[in-house]
Amino acid sequence: MDRFRVVGPNRLEGRVRAAGAKNAALPALAATLLADAPVVLRGVPGVADMRTMRRLLAHDGVRSAELNGSPLGVSGAGGAAAAAVAGESVLELQPSTGPAPDEAPYELVKTMRASVLVLGPLLARRGHARVSLPGGCAIGVRPIDQHLAGLEALGATVELTAGYVEARAQRLTGAHFRFALPTVTGTENVMMAATLARGTTVLENCAREPEVEDLARLLVAMGASIEGAGEDRITIEGVERLGGADHTILPDRIEGGTYLIAAAATGGDVTVDNLDAEHLAPLLEKLAGAGAVVESGPGWVRVRRDGELLPRDIVTAPHPGFPTDLQAQYMALMTQARGHAAICETVFENRFQHVPELARMGASISVEGNLAKVTGPTRLSGAKVMATDLRASACLVLAGLVAGGETMIDRIYHLDRGYEAMERKLQSLGGRVERIAGP
Ligand code: UD1
Repeated sequence: MDRFRVVGPNRLEGRVRAAGAKNAALPALAATLLADAPVVLRGVPGVADMRTMRRLLAHDGVRSAELNGSPLGVSGAGGAAAAAVAGESVLELQPSTGPAPDEAPYELVKTMRASVLVLGPLLARRGHARVSLPGGCAIGVRPIDQHLAGLEALGATVELTAGYVEARAQRLTGAHFRFALPTVTGTENVMMAATLARGTTVLENCAREPEVEDLARLLVAMGASIEGAGEDRITIEGVERLGGADHTILPDRIEGGTYLIAAAATGGDVTVDNLDAEHLAPLLEKLAGAGAVVESGPGWVRVRRDGELLPRDIVTAPHPGFPTDLQAQYMALMTQARGHAAICETVFENRFQHVPELARMGASISVEGNLAKVTGPTRLSGAKVMATDLRASACLVLAGLVAGGETMIDRIYHLDRGYEAMERKLQSLGGRVERIAGP
């Protein structure tokens, strides 16, 4: 298993490019199951989750090929490490021609919960889908009841057997459905299913993340009729078929945001290209409040800090609130602020697994329920730590950049799921980070 060795303290300086968003590319790839003609996706990030999703699509009969010849391949050698050093790619996805399973098997779902995104498209296009239940995961229970309730509202029958969800429908029928809570992949799943339903579907209390909007842009380019994506209420007029499209994935605000937090944490000066400041407003507001200088223009954001860092509280919330996917990285930053910062996690239970690891590096953090109180500034010192999930891993890398001495971060495969060539990008900013290949 690969590890990262980080030697600090570092000051990051320079420009880096955010890749296409993992969380937009995953539903975009799943959406190609709906098409009856080839779909081209640009800006697909070189991260391990793309390999998993392509493998899942191949299982279901959708073949994908890289048009720009990047080394990332479904069965390529080198595992996650190879994926992590590949750049963004242009993928062409060919619709299934012969019989293929309508299925997401356990082996793939257990490594990537977002596999559940094939449920809506398979059901809508083929009338049947069998998807393994994701089960618990490191950051909480994460049920999919709202995905299922939405599909049932469209007329599907859903059965749970032997750890699998099996959904059936001759043809889905448009309906009015209100999500009990805004769920990102749930909104995406039901929206995709409704594109091929008979009649009008109105979805309420939808997730408003920019990734939902990006998926709708792709579906509309494929011939769907969707209004209101990115808002609370989405209206979909079902169509008979969806065709091909050529779509560029929107930039990864979480990856970009991570490098901007790193700039503030290390007293550095970093410009992230291919990033939309509007999508990161809640983070940028906090960074400015904490004493960093934030500038932005079309397609770039710059963060630098010379002076003292001030504590600023955050409460994570669905978009347009502070993203839960930046909470761990922000906590690493707050260990460097003078005073007390309160960090309240409202989206997922059990998303403070980075706290004990930060504490091992010298951070002063107390946790009560979903509230963490960070007291700073602390001089962090390098230690051996273990990554527990994707964003917690990024938090430990940031802590390692700030800390004095050597930090060894184990289980980097979590990081490779969602960050493209992170060590290379940090090296280009002057960070002393190296990947140590494991057995
Ligand atoms: C997506 C993102 C993930 C991010 C999360 C919240 C992708 C591939 N992943 O995950 O990076 O952290 O949004 O911004 O886009 N819930 C239910 N029932 C459901 C569905 C969700 O109770 O049927 C709950 C979850 O347990 C959680 C909350 O709703 O507490 C939000 O989860 P959700 O938006 O669904 O997260 P994901 O779509 O899995």
